[in-house]
Amino acid sequence: MTAIEQSRTVAVVGTGTMGQGIAQVALVAGHPVRLYDALPERARQAAEAIAGRLDRLVEKGGLDADARSAALARLHPAAALTDLADAALVVEAIVERLEVKQELFTALEEIVADDCLLATNTSSLSVTAIAGPLRVPDRFVGLHFFNPAPLLPLVEVVSGHATAQPAATRAYETAKAWGKTPVRCADTPGFIVNRLARPFYAEALRVHEERGADPATIDAVLRECGGFRMGPFELTDLIGQDVNEAVTRSVWESFYQDPKFTPSLAQRRLVESGRLGRKSGQGWFSYAEGAEVPEP
Ligand code: NAI
Repeated sequence: MTAIEQSRTVAVVGTGTMGQGIAQVALVAGHPVRLYDALPERARQAAEAIAGRLDRLVEKGGLDADARSAALARLHPAAALTDLADAALVVEAIVERLEVKQELFTALEEIVADDCLLATNTSSLSVTAIAGPLRVPDRFVGLHFFNPAPLLPLVEVVSGHATAQPAATRAYETAKAWGKTPVRCADTPGFIVNRLARPFYAEALRVHEERGADPATIDAVLRECGGFRMGPFELTDLIGQDVNEAVTRSVWESFYQDPKFTPSLAQRRLVESGRLGRKSGQGWFSYAEGAEVPEP
């Protein structure tokens, strides 16, 4: 089973942070790309944002000016889901809610051709559960990119219970053809990365809650002596405290509330107070003045 041919259309549904990044990757890899979002202006904004990023790539010498123009000519915001009928691959990056994703794919499978690969970028939901209501769940796969998708090489290719081998292989080969480093994994909670990362965040939060050390010290220790690019506190500020907390909660619940994955009360308070990290200007650290935020 080979990668999806460059001439075939890739559709991205949900054009927020991840959808934009994934669309850019597919576009630069040579595919025609359709962008669809429940809010049509978001799809148009995403196309503009991608154009801006390609401009910066050209400025930095990472992309030829002709290649940029050719790529942008292949990028099409779609007004309706039915405009995705010619897609060979649909990558979904919408809101992280099971029933909303199920509803989307149930509608999509009536629109696209039988050989179209359907993929979810979910970070914490079960691929098997999303495919549950589908008429043809064997072509459904998890294609989990990391933020920022154009820069980070890893893609987890997740097989749900009903995923057929050829579909997973086609997704894997496609990610490889896009210059990514795909890894195959099964549909266990958090897949590989989001599960392995839980103790990294959880233990750091516990040290802080026990007054063992403050966030800046813990981050500095791991960054400067531990070889990590970012410490757990600054990293969760980048990811979004709400997003990170939701993933922890999902993994914890999926493992029948295994205490090993118990979410942190300190992080919960941070989310409740709206200190979501960089996107809200404040999280563990303040991005306005660079000063640390007092403990919630
Ligand atoms: P986002 O909030 O930036 O973007 C989501 C977009 O989906 C919005 O533009 C929204 O209007 C649209 N949308 C919502 N419901 C829709 C529907 N029914 N049909 C069409 N469009 C719809 O979200 P983000 O962060 O890009 O996350 C998207 C998915 O990617 C989630 O499943 C998330 O778990 C996953 N993910 C997120 C990562 C991150 O670091 N933010 C990393 C890896 C995966």
